[in-house]
Amino acid sequence: MNQKIVAPSLLSADFTNLKEQINNLQIAGCKMFHCDIMDGHFVPNISFGPSIVSQIHKCTTLPLDTHLMISEPEKYIRSFSKSGSSIITVHYEACQNLGSVLELIKIEKLKVGVSIKPKTHVSVLEKFINQIDLILIMSVEPGFGGQEFIPSSYKKIEQARELITKNNFNTLIEVDGGITFENIQNVSDAGADIFVAGNTIFKKADYVEAFINLQKLIS
Ligand code: DX5
Ligand code: ZN
Repeated sequence: MNQKIVAPSLLSADFTNLKEQINNLQIAGCKMFHCDIMDGHFVPNISFGPSIVSQIHKCTTLPLDTHLMISEPEKYIRSFSKSGSSIITVHYEACQNLGSVLELIKIEKLKVGVSIKPKTHVSVLEKFINQIDLILIMSVEPGFGGQEFIPSSYKKIEQARELITKNNFNTLIEVDGGITFENIQNVSDAGADIFVAGNTIFKKADYVEAFINLQKLIS
C-alpha cells in the first residue's frame, strides 16, 4: 500500500446526521469508511446490520470496510456483500472453520480481512496468510468505541509486519481502537497501513478538521 489512510469508524458518528458527515469527510479526502457490526453475542453490544450498510453505501462512492464482530459470520457474508461492502473482516475467534469463511468472502469478489482480539496471537494467522488481504489488529477489546489503546498492540503490529514480510505478501495491516493524535505516529512506525478512528474524529466539535489533522500525521 502506498498511502497510509485513516478510516473513520461510523459507529461513533451522529446517526441523525450521517449523510452529511459522510459527505463532508469524503470532500475532506477520506478514502474509506469503517462499519462496525456488532451482534450482542460475540461482543456485549449491538450496533447495526446490512440494511444500514446499504444506506451508508447510498451516501458514498468510497469503499466500506465492514468489520463483523458477530458469531457465525459465515451466515451473513452474502448480505453484507450485497449491502455494498468492499472489505469484509471476520474475527478469527468467531470462526469454526476460518478457511471456508474466507473462501465465502472471496467468492463475493471482496477483499478478505481477519481480525484478532487483543489476547489472540498473530501466529494463529500464519497458515491463512495467503488468503488474507488485510489483518485487523484490535487495539481495544471489541465492542465499544472510546476505549484506551492497549500498549501491547505495538508488539502485535510488529509481529504482523514480520509475518507478512517473511511470507513475501502485501497483506495490509489495519489497527482498530483507541487511535489518537498522540499515538497514531507510533502505531504507524510499528507498521500499520490503515488506522481506524471513531471518537478521536467524531467526538470533536469539528470532526472534519479532526480527520484532516489525523490524516496529516501519517501522510
Ligand atoms: C470497537 C470497534 C472500533 C471502534 C473504534 O469494537 O471495532 O472500530 O469503534 O472507535 P475508537 O476509535 O473510538 O476506539
Ligand atoms: Zn472496528
